[in-house]
Amino acid sequence: MSTSLKVAVLGCGSVGSQVVRLLREQSDDLAARVGAPVELVGVAVRRIDAPREVDLPAELLTSDAMGLAVREDVDVVVEVIGGIEPARSLILAALEGGASVVTANKALLAEDGATLFEAAEKANRDLYYEAAVAGAIPILRPLRESLAGDKVTRVLGIVNGTTNFILDRMDTSGAGFSEALEEAQELGYAEADPTADVEGFDAAAKAAILASLAFHSRVTAADVYREGISEVTAADVASAQDMGSVVKLLAICELKDDAVAARVHPAMIPRSHPLASVREAFNAVFVESEAAGQLMFYGPGAGGAPTASAVLGDLVTVSRNRLASTRGVGESSYADRAVLPMGETLTRYHVAIDVADRAGVLAAVATAFAEHGVSIQTVRQEGRDDDAQLVVVSHRATDAALSATVETLRGMDIVREVTSVMRVEGDSE
Ligand SMILES: NC(=O)c1ccc[n+]([C@@H]2O[C@H](COP(=O)([O-])OP(=O)(O)OC[C@H]3O[C@@H](n4cnc5c(N)ncnc54)[C@H](OP(=O)(O)O)[C@@H]3O)[C@@H](O)[C@H]2O)c1
Repeated sequence: MSTSLKVAVLGCGSVGSQVVRLLREQSDDLAARVGAPVELVGVAVRRIDAPREVDLPAELLTSDAMGLAVREDVDVVVEVIGGIEPARSLILAALEGGASVVTANKALLAEDGATLFEAAEKANRDLYYEAAVAGAIPILRPLRESLAGDKVTRVLGIVNGTTNFILDRMDTSGAGFSEALEEAQELGYAEADPTADVEGFDAAAKAAILASLAFHSRVTAADVYREGISEVTAADVASAQDMGSVVKLLAICELKDDAVAARVHPAMIPRSHPLASVREAFNAVFVESEAAGQLMFYGPGAGGAPTASAVLGDLVTVSRNRLASTRGVGESSYADRAVLPMGETLTRYHVAIDVADRAGVLAAVATAFAEHGVSIQTVRQEGRDDDAQLVVVSHRATDAALSATVETLRGMDIVREVTSVMRVEGDSE
């Protein structure tokens, strides 16, 4: 066997500790798969004396991440620190110094992936990041390689386990958002500060990465329309149930007139849709392409060991490439598609309205939709007299026209309250 491949791991937290454990426990298999021994030569952390989830010889630990990233003998740098800095400077320095890089850093890739890809290109080195989206689920490589000969038209993903857990609890127990969030925190599915998850920032970063790969264009987190789940009420969830649907936080990336639309928001999907069966903290990505049709990728979207599985898969690939003195597929942004503003994106709305019990109410509501060019798919009336509610589901229209319709409804004197507004996804109309 040839000389060993030297690996440096930056970060030894939830993911890093599991990467280190697997690297050591599976060293014989990894050596056989790569074609050379894979040797862990250093692990960078912030607090050198903090307890670790993995046994590590003290001489491997360092707090000098930059020194480790640019060490001349290091072949592959694994970045699992997270955040923008110092992760970006470390990755750029590692590439410039001649190492290949594996990272799980969705925040950085979604904010400034272009700088990293250009650096990898210039250095003629690999930059792999399967773990950045949906943890253990292989989805980036299928998009980048397996589907490279097809035309992807749409990617729908449940890519945040925390929000899926919360919405699943609201669906099964009738709990409100705060109660379900509290349970998620008690069970360790939500952070003490859950903002990044519940407000959709994490999912938006993943949507940017998915859209970039699916549509061969550069899409950043700032391009992704984002709405979280903190405003989803028990009434919204019950309303979805009445329609035979379930509420999910979706990352949606699609083509419209050759432009890219990328958005993250809660949506009602029919229970018959494959994504509706994704329960608890699991993730799934549903891909539609011209030739393949519909594909679904499902599994654990987070957690130290599942995420480390994806990191190790990349590590094997980039290590093999190094031994063969070659490089894998780099960034593909040749299509350079524009990103559509949310207002021009086509969506459907579910609107529940408390209305006065008067003749002509239905006609007045229908007129409000028609004035904005929105056609109605179904209207259902629930209750009677003072308790009357209309539930309207629209056909596809621009998001701007739909939100203007809701504004008009809110201003009508026959409308007591618009009690629920939610987008509808996942069926053929
Ligand atoms: N956790 C998941 O389930 C998951 C899933 C998918 C992707 N990811 C991604 O994986 C990455 C790591 O996440 P994580 O959950 O493992 O984070 P984490 O548990 O917070 O671990 C971060 C590690 O980085 C180290 N670190 C922080 N600043 C440093 C610095 N300046 N120099 C050297 N080391 C430094 C910390 O050192 P100390 O231990 O000494 O503080 C810690 O070991 C992130 O990009 C995250 O988005 C995580």
